[in-house]
Amino acid sequence: MINYDEETKIFHLNTPHTSYCMTVVDDSYIAHLYYGERITRSNLNYLLRLHEYVFPPSERPDEKAGFFDRLPAEYPVEGGGDFREACLGVRNDRGLISPELFFTGWKIHKKKKKLPGLPQTFGENAQTLELSFRDSVSGLVVYLIYTVFEDADVLVRNAVIRNESGNALYLTRALTACLSLPAGKGKTLTFGGAWAREHLPVWREAGYGGTVSESRRGAPGHGGQPFMGFCYDQGGLFGMHMLYSGSYLAKLEQDSFGDYRMVLGIHPDTFSWKLEEGEVFHTPEAVLFYTPDGTAGMTHILHDFYRAHLIRGFGKQRPVLINNWEATYFDFDEERLLSIAREAAELGIDTFVVDDGWFGRGRMEPSGDLGDWIPSKKKMPGGLKAFSLKLRALGIRLGLWFEPEMVSEESELFRAHPDWVLHQEGRIPAKCRDQWILDLANPQVRDYLTDSIAFAIREGAATYIKWDMNRMLSEAGSPFLPPCRQGEIWHRHVLGVYEIQERLLEMFPDLIIENCASGGARFDPGMLYYSPQIWCSDNMDPVDRIRIHEGTAMLYPLSTIGSHVSKSPNDITGRVTSFKTRSITGMFGSFGYELDITRLASAEKHDISRQINLYRRLRPMIFEGDYYCLVPIGENGRYQAYEVLSKERDEGFVVFFQNLVEPNGRGVRLCLKGLANDCDYEIGGRIYSGDALLKAGYIVPYVKQDFYAEIIEFKAVSSKNRF
Ligand code: DGJ
Repeated sequence: MINYDEETKIFHLNTPHTSYCMTVVDDSYIAHLYYGERITRSNLNYLLRLHEYVFPPSERPDEKAGFFDRLPAEYPVEGGGDFREACLGVRNDRGLISPELFFTGWKIHKKKKKLPGLPQTFGENAQTLELSFRDSVSGLVVYLIYTVFEDADVLVRNAVIRNESGNALYLTRALTACLSLPAGKGKTLTFGGAWAREHLPVWREAGYGGTVSESRRGAPGHGGQPFMGFCYDQGGLFGMHMLYSGSYLAKLEQDSFGDYRMVLGIHPDTFSWKLEEGEVFHTPEAVLFYTPDGTAGMTHILHDFYRAHLIRGFGKQRPVLINNWEATYFDFDEERLLSIAREAAELGIDTFVVDDGWFGRGRMEPSGDLGDWIPSKKKMPGGLKAFSLKLRALGIRLGLWFEPEMVSEESELFRAHPDWVLHQEGRIPAKCRDQWILDLANPQVRDYLTDSIAFAIREGAATYIKWDMNRMLSEAGSPFLPPCRQGEIWHRHVLGVYEIQERLLEMFPDLIIENCASGGARFDPGMLYYSPQIWCSDNMDPVDRIRIHEGTAMLYPLSTIGSHVSKSPNDITGRVTSFKTRSITGMFGSFGYELDITRLASAEKHDISRQINLYRRLRPMIFEGDYYCLVPIGENGRYQAYEVLSKERDEGFVVFFQNLVEPNGRGVRLCLKGLANDCDYEIGGRIYSGDALLKAGYIVPYVKQDFYAEIIEFKAVSSKNRF
C-alpha cells in the first residue's frame, strides 16, 4: 500500500483505486506530486515544474522566496517565501520565527498509531507513513503521519509537533493537512446553513480569492462543517474532512498559475498553544479522498469508511426513542412522563428520553439549574432510580438529557464554584440562553462533570444520554490556565468534551451518547467517534427535514442522523403535514418520536406500531446499505427522491417526497441506482428487470397531495414473470 522508490525519491501511497504521491526535493523538502486515480511505479517528478518561475522580478527559480512560493509543500509554514495559506506558525520568547522544515527521514509502520485524547480512525489492515522534519533554528520537530487502509479509498493524515528548542515555543497555527491540486476549472463544495436549516451544500466557482469555510465558535456551528471539497468541471472530486468538533478553517486558494492549495485544520484565529521543551502537540486527523464519481462517489466512500473505521458504537443496538421535548418542553412531572411512557410501551418504543428540565430545582425555562445534575424533587419525587424502575416495569429503558459544558447563574454549582466559568478578568461573561460556559481546561471541572453524569446514569440505569450544547464559546478566558496559555482554551474545551465522553464510555461501554448542539451545530466526524448518532436539527418539519437529511447524508451514514417524528402543525414552521409524511422522513436515520402520543387518535397510535415495525424491518438496510440521492432538492423544485440499497443489492427502497403537486401533472419517472443489471426486482406486485429500472426507470404514480411522501420497496426475485 505504501512504498518509497529510492531512485525517484517518490513516496507512493496507494488505496484500492487511488494514489497519493510525494517527492523529496533537494534532499530537504517534501513536495506533493499527485493525487487521483491509481498510478503505480511511474516517475512523476516531471509534474513538479519548479523551474517555471512565477514572479517576474525574480527570474531565478532557485532563489528561495520564489522557490517556496511555487513549492507544493506538504506542510507549508508561515513567514517564509510561501505567501499562500500556511499550516504551521510558531513564535518563541524572542518574537516571531519563520520556521523552515527540513526533511530528515521516514518510516513505514504496519499499523496505525493511537492518537492521545483525540477522535481517530482505526482498523487492522493499515499502513502508516511517518515523515520527519526538523528546524534547527526554531527547535521544532514535525512528523507528518499518513495512514492508508486496505479496504478504503481514503487517506488519513495529521501532524505531530515536538519542541526540542530547550525553551518554550508557542504554536500560533497547527493545521492538519494541505493538498495541492493542479489548475483547472471547478467548484468548491462546502456546507452552510443556520439553526433549523443545517447542512446546506454550497457550491462555488473556484478562483482567485479562494473559498473559505470556517468557524470561530468553538464548534463547527449550524452553518459549518470541517470539510472542503473541490470538483473539476471535467470530473474528479477531492475532499478533506476533519475529525474535529471545534473552530476550524477550511480554505481553497488559487496561485498565480491557477494551481490550488487546499488546507484544513483548527482555526488559527482561536488557537495558540504553548509547548514546553519536549512537549508534543497532535493535530486532529483529517480524512482525504478522491473519487472520479462526484458526490455519489464521495458519499459511498465516506459512509463505508466512517461505518468501518470511525464510529466505535456503530454495532450497538440502537433503540427506537420517544423524547418528551416537543411534547412537554419544560412543563412535566413524573406522572405526565409516565402517561407518555405507558402509551409508548404499548406501541413498541424501546427508550424514553427525558429531555431538558428533570434536574436541579426542576427548571421551567432556560434560566437555571444547569450544572446541578441531580433529579428535581418536584419533577421526580422518588428520584431517578424510582422513575427508571417504573419505566422498566413497562418494558422501557431510560434515556437522559444533559448539557454538561454549561452552567446557570442560578445553580448550586455556580454558587459553589464561580471560578469554574469561562470569562475575561474584570468582565461579566455574556450570557446566551441564560447560561455560561464551564472551564473544561480545569481538570476539577471535568472530574465533577464525569462523576455527576456517571452517578445519574447509574441511578437511572440509563442506556442512552443526549449530550446537548446550546451556546457557542465567547469571552473564552480560563480562570484555570496561566496568562501564557489563555489561547489554548478553545482547543482545550473540545479536548475536555472528548475526555469526558471517553471516560463515560469506559465506565458504561454499552451506553449510547447522542450528541446534539441546538440541533446540528456539532455534527462532525470527531463526535462520531464517541457518539454513533447525532441530533441533526431541531426542525422536524418534513419539508425542511428531508432537505437537511440530504445535505447531512452527503457526508454521513444515515445511521448517524438522529431523526424524530414530531407534531403538526410544526412548532418551528407552523406547517401542517400528514403523520405518514412525517414518519417517512423520520425513518431516514436513527428513529424516534417527539410528540405527545397520549393526544393522538387511536388510528394514529396504530400507525405508530406499523411505522416502528416497518422501520425495524428496513433498519439493516438504512444502517448498512448504500444510500443514493436520486433527485436532489432543487433539481425540479417539486419532488425529491432517495434510494437505499442493501450491500447484496437484493433489496432496497426509495423515499419519494413531493413538495407541491404539479397541476395537470403526471407520474414521475425515477431511474434507480446500483441495482444488478441482470437481476429482476419486484415492486408492488410487478416484476421489472434491474436493467430497466436503472436505465428506463420506475414510474411513481401521480398523487394530488402537497407534502406527500411514499416509501417504494423493491426486492430481487427470480427472473420469471419479467414485466
Ligand atoms: C436543544 C436541542 O436541540 C433540543 O432537542 C432540546 O434538547 C433543547 N435543546 C432542550 O433545551
